[in-house]
Amino acid sequence: MEHLELYATCTTGLEWVTAQELSALGAEVTGTGQSRVFFRAQWELVYRLHLFARTVNRFFALLAQAQVGSLQEIEEVAWQVPYEEWFSNRTAFAIRSERDGTHDFTSMDIARVVGQVVCDRFIARTGQRPPVNLDYPEVEIFSTLVDDQYLLGLNLTGSSLHRRPWRQSLAHLTALRPTLAAAVVMASGWDHRPLVDPMCGTGTLLIEGALWRRGISPSLGREEWAFRVLLRHQEAQWQAEQEAIRQTGGQSPPLRGSDWNPRYIQIARQNAASAGVDDIQFSVANALSLPPPEEPVVLVTNPPYGVRMGKPSELVHLYRKLWRKWSAEYGGSRIVVISGNPALEQSAPVEPVASYDFLQADLPCRLLIWDLP
Ligand SMILES: C[S@@+](CC[C@H](N)C(=O)[O-])C[C@H]1O[C@@H](n2cnc3c(N)ncnc32)[C@H](O)[C@@H]1O
Repeated sequence: MEHLELYATCTTGLEWVTAQELSALGAEVTGTGQSRVFFRAQWELVYRLHLFARTVNRFFALLAQAQVGSLQEIEEVAWQVPYEEWFSNRTAFAIRSERDGTHDFTSMDIARVVGQVVCDRFIARTGQRPPVNLDYPEVEIFSTLVDDQYLLGLNLTGSSLHRRPWRQSLAHLTALRPTLAAAVVMASGWDHRPLVDPMCGTGTLLIEGALWRRGISPSLGREEWAFRVLLRHQEAQWQAEQEAIRQTGGQSPPLRGSDWNPRYIQIARQNAASAGVDDIQFSVANALSLPPPEEPVVLVTNPPYGVRMGKPSELVHLYRKLWRKWSAEYGGSRIVVISGNPALEQSAPVEPVASYDFLQADLPCRLLIWDLP
């Protein structure tokens, strides 16, 4: 069976979580780059990866990867790619071009050159060129140039997998991307202890946690799958794979979420119900007046940073009070925080056992883990 060269895009800084996830799902990881994990897999695995990878935004076929110094070299690299093995000359395509660094040509120039190469190569091999449709393409080819590193990938996924079918869009100003939330829960070391989020907003961390531990696909019900127009696609196998996942679903420790905003809790409940994990216990409460837990827990949370929510000066008081409470009441628990504000880390009474820097959109953040004695 042929092994394909592929890559996945994910949260910058947490590529290692995605690499572990893809390995566990059966892919052969070959390396990582900024917000990318490169791997090999047979085509059959692509279906399962799309259904079960939780930390991935999109999957791509790696068409070319090269060091280039000019537009002409990009053209030469693009000529080597067998596009005609991936899609037919009746399939509408678009080039999506990104460029970073100092060059004497623009990303538009690259898109124009690569688009022409795709057409010319199709004419040379099949006698006819495919149509270009920049607004509604069936196939998207991503062209990325960073300094002299050039990457050409074919989008297998379509729109990003972080658009979960279970989630109400625009429900919360600072809701986490579910692909980031999944990476955080997977990196948290959550074990047999209950998972709690005292500032849960719309419940993203808990819902992704429940889906992960119970082996439920986070993308059940999604209808857009870009790979279905490709020549390699095997519809019967895809249908069988989808059928098989409906029979999965395991157990997890209890999950509890609270937020002081009743509107968010209402949405969290609706989200959990549509994700099929409606046994998560949600309540309206101030994180500072929750009763102490009856047993050690894994507390995973994403408090306000003061960027889009909460005033930075008031947040220092919130962080201090949270730490006073957690230190007094959460002995034996693990505290896992997504922090976009250094004051939270500075208020902690002990050193974290782990800390990972990552980017949330363009905001530098840190995933911090403490074990309380
Ligand atoms: C960054 S948002 C969390 C977003 C959430 N992770 C999601 O994906 O929807 C922070 C949340 O903390 C809540 N919050 C702030 N202070 C709180 C407090 N003292 N008690 C409870 N909730 C609080 C806010 O209402 C907000 O929903």
